Amino acid sequence: MKNIVLVGFMGSGKTEIAKALAHDTGKEYVSVDNLIEIREDKLISDIFRDEGEEYFRTVEREVVKEVSAKLDQVIDTGGGVVLNRQNMKDLRRTGVVICLWADVDAIYDRTKEYAHRPLLEVDDPRKMIRELLEYRRPYYKKANYHIDTTGLDLTIVLDRVKNIMRNRLEGRQGRGRGLEENTVLWGYFSERLLQNIKYPVMLVDNEGQVVFVNKKYLTAFSLLENDIMNRSWINGIIPESARGDAWKINKEMKRKNRLFKFDMPVVASGVSGKYISWLVVPIKEEKTVFYMFVGREKEDPVDSSAKSHTLSSKELHAAHLEMMGILFDAGMRSEPWVAEHSARVKTFAASLAKKIKLSKVKTERLKVAALLHDIGKLGVEESILFKKEQLTKNEFRQMKMHSYWGAEMARLIYFLRKTIPIIVNHHENFDGSGYPKGRKGWRIPLEARILSIADIYEALTADRPYREKFSIDEAVAIMENEKGHKIDPRLTDIFLDMVRKGVF
Ligand SMILES: [Fe+2]
Repeated sequence: MKNIVLVGFMGSGKTEIAKALAHDTGKEYVSVDNLIEIREDKLISDIFRDEGEEYFRTVEREVVKEVSAKLDQVIDTGGGVVLNRQNMKDLRRTGVVICLWADVDAIYDRTKEYAHRPLLEVDDPRKMIRELLEYRRPYYKKANYHIDTTGLDLTIVLDRVKNIMRNRLEGRQGRGRGLEENTVLWGYFSERLLQNIKYPVMLVDNEGQVVFVNKKYLTAFSLLENDIMNRSWINGIIPESARGDAWKINKEMKRKNRLFKFDMPVVASGVSGKYISWLVVPIKEEKTVFYMFVGREKEDPVDSSAKSHTLSSKELHAAHLEMMGILFDAGMRSEPWVAEHSARVKTFAASLAKKIKLSKVKTERLKVAALLHDIGKLGVEESILFKKEQLTKNEFRQMKMHSYWGAEMARLIYFLRKTIPIIVNHHENFDGSGYPKGRKGWRIPLEARILSIADIYEALTADRPYREKFSIDEAVAIMENEKGHKIDPRLTDIFLDMVRKGVF
């Protein structure tokens, strides 16, 4: 079974959690720091003092490489292990990486007894911790799961880690009962999105190794995860006769570095030849590139060779829309009414955009953003999404994350990138009372202000699981009231004028 890897800042409680977890699960407890000390026959503080950090990181890298080559362990890591991308990649390959997080005060409280920590031997240790946390945040983000341990007893944290294990490792579908509050972040959303895609999906790294496959992939090709994970995608499922072509396509894929299509036969244990049309899109996370393959079975007679397609710009545009449709569909599968909502929002937003003569390019972008703006809701627990009562502070915090998750997805896919400012700002209010940043007035991008009007109007005039819709007159009155508060007054006037004239 996969490893459980705990990463996080010192004082996040990872060592205690890792030891307890190993004890309760019978897995082997492995500490990267201990292994470094054994190997160097020295305390870590002494290695830092005598050989310096760079040397320490080199040894750490070697140890990480070794421990990630084995399975069935609970791995406890040092706070800086995340700084090396290759470390994270290795750890994620054979393990589920859980990041324990805490706020500055909590970390300060938990670490102040560690008098030997050089970190605290400064005038303002809190400031130092804050700066380090900020610096490391993007690295920690690469973990599969995040748990904010601030104010939590370690037994509760342990319980949450076990919930993640149960859901993730035992393949239980759904939202993980007990994963309340804001415990599961980006990794959870992205995995759900890929699992929801109704076609086989694999993620391949820059070296051509498979790093993720969805369940649909495993069932379609009758494979187990171990048959394909960490192996070249070509040796895994491509018949020998087509491997030469596949390698050429692999090269082409890297060179093109944009969405492309190819058809290829597939063999896997127990499956006779199937011919699959793959849609491949590069996913860029800072400097790391992954390729997402989405496969659709072709009805055509089986061909033993592979064919890549050269797409004209028109065909490329169509392929972009196709990929977007696949993601949209996956995002909406658990909340079908969100799909309907988004489609209506798109119509309203496009009409208002046309009325104010927004350029064609910007209008197109707005339409895409309108469709995808709520896709991040896939990462919000259903109990919160459908709750009739008022949300608690923590629940609302999770709810608010949806605009951020949607934008994160758009950030990874090059042809969606320009929709980020629209998606991330769709809950900003004109008077600055919105989220995530509390931007005000003209500082909110125009397209996001349009989207917000369309979004609110749609919400008011459609039934929801928790309430009936308002009449058009009631909706107009409510929106008149929100002018200058939630929504842009000038744009709202134009929009409501259209509503009164019966444009919709
Ligand atoms: Fe939203």
